[in-house]
Amino acid sequence: MSERLKAPKGTHDLLPPDSEKFAAVESRAREIFGSYGYAEIRTPIFESTELFARSVGETTDIVHKEMYTFTDRKGRSLTLRPENTAGVVRALVERGIQEMPKPIRLWYHGPQFRYEQPQAGRYREFRQIGVELLGVPSAEGDAEVLEMLFKFLRALGLTDLVAVLNCIPKGAARQAFSRAVFEHVRPHSARLGAEDRKRLEENPLRLFDSKDPELIRILGNAPKTLDFLDPASREHHDELKRLLPTGLVPFRESASVVRGLDYYTLTVFEVVSERLGAQNAILGGGRYDDLVADLGGPPTAAVGFAIGEDRLVEVMTTDARPERPVYFVVPDSRYDFAYALGVANEIRASLPDAVVETDFNGRGIVKGLSRAGTVATQPSKSAFRPKGVRAVLLGQKEREANTVTLKDLSTGAQQTVPRTALPEVLGAARER
Ligand code: HAM
Repeated sequence: MSERLKAPKGTHDLLPPDSEKFAAVESRAREIFGSYGYAEIRTPIFESTELFARSVGETTDIVHKEMYTFTDRKGRSLTLRPENTAGVVRALVERGIQEMPKPIRLWYHGPQFRYEQPQAGRYREFRQIGVELLGVPSAEGDAEVLEMLFKFLRALGLTDLVAVLNCIPKGAARQAFSRAVFEHVRPHSARLGAEDRKRLEENPLRLFDSKDPELIRILGNAPKTLDFLDPASREHHDELKRLLPTGLVPFRESASVVRGLDYYTLTVFEVVSERLGAQNAILGGGRYDDLVADLGGPPTAAVGFAIGEDRLVEVMTTDARPERPVYFVVPDSRYDFAYALGVANEIRASLPDAVVETDFNGRGIVKGLSRAGTVATQPSKSAFRPKGVRAVLLGQKEREANTVTLKDLSTGAQQTVPRTALPEVLGAARER
């Protein structure tokens, strides 16, 4: 037998019911983000390599060692997107962001690619759900995005999460902060690994991305971001804390959240769950007021976040799929197929949220009922989330009398009704 092919390392297929669970999370995102005026944007899965070097930053881990970069047939360097903010900004600049009414409210979901060492919650292909708000420079923008994020998390049953918030100085203050971190770490440089020594020389802020416990300890008493804020930045940060509705957006401050992407200015935040381990944030985001201009557009303030959808689904304890009545239409033999197809469509017309599956074995009612029985007894394995499982039994008797026999799989109760009475009977079943 020839060897079976496997999915590439670090990827994972989503089969039902998992695929349906992801889709349900995405519909909640569409519903909640949509209610704040955020519309979906879709950008290419690959972009020019230069885009990520110029936005995420040359010296970040992402650009430096995690990108899937390839040369196409015409010699262009392209990269599978490691994140979506750069692509969104590129698209807006390309389509003339200066002409677009502000603010611009967008959300997206889709696969991202990073060459990381796969482990629990860390993949090479993973999915993000993200939000970007452009054109609101004041702290109200950060507050809206955070408030909406927590509404979404609560809607998914995640009520025990806390945002960890920080504010990174910008402009000259950022240079001063970076210098201070450099001075603080330099005396210890002999104890650092080669990679962290490189970070120290090239971009000291990236030292905060290191996983080396010794360096994390050294950074524990490094100069604090908040001590370097200029008065306007401090005011922005204080205003945001005032605006965040207590109870609705639980947060705490931490000087060590510096985030592994270079484009952030001022507000940055992450949400970490105990259930995933401290290294694995469920989501990260912040303000990136310079990125639009850095990518050739007019200066435009912006703020956003991206949730790791795979991690989100892993920590969820509730099922986001809507409950749906499930009907199995079971024709006794192949002579009843045409009748069954008609009845199945009438049920779909009467109950638009129902799942109506038709059995095509034609080997008798008992065999035909086996799948319905499995769904009724093991609903968690089912692609859909059943709200009652019913079978519709159709044999020669029903066909000739123009009737249907309805069987409730949970109670075993059975009744035969005229086919014409189906809408009424199904309507009554829904009321119950
Ligand atoms: P990020 O922190 O690089 O930010 O990624 C956001 C989230 O994506 C992470 O918190 C994590 O949940 C998930 N994630 C990242 N890498 C992996 C992986 N290898 N496997 C599974 N999940 C992963 C950004 O991407 C920014 N674009 C967020 C943003 C939007 N900032 C402003 N707007």
